[in-house]
Amino acid sequence: MALAMPKVTVVDPMREVVKEFEVESGTKLLKALIEHEIDLVHTCGGWAKCTTCRCTIDKGTPSKVTQAQKDLFERFVRTGQPQFDAPQVHLSCQVIVENDMQVCPSEEFNEIIHDNRGKDTEDEVTPDPVWLDHEVPDWLG
Ligand code: FES
Repeated sequence: MALAMPKVTVVDPMREVVKEFEVESGTKLLKALIEHEIDLVHTCGGWAKCTTCRCTIDKGTPSKVTQAQKDLFERFVRTGQPQFDAPQVHLSCQVIVENDMQVCPSEEFNEIIHDNRGKDTEDEVTPDPVWLDHEVPDWLG
């Protein structure tokens, strides 16, 4: 059952806690991260096109993924990028927070690499989501 105010724990690649906050259930993860000043890149503004908003969800893996994320990841895997073939890797613009989560953003803003953080993002998941069941293996919480 979805929690009313799930907790998002943001960690760095060493799994040190960077920030913890609660969000209203149903909030788009990318929006929640931006609003809580997590400096992740989101080049396309949340349209499942760029992958800069990707994150590893260590705990609280969503039980649904969008068709847009699935299609994009499959394309990357076909072109030799197996890192997208992992059940814990998600696009934060394609995730709705419904339960407590531990999240490690992949691409933080770095002014040497990036011109800017990215376009503004809508409150809702875009493009209009088609939700698919996400098989979560036992080893992933
Ligand atoms: S894929 Fe571009 S912001 Fe999520």
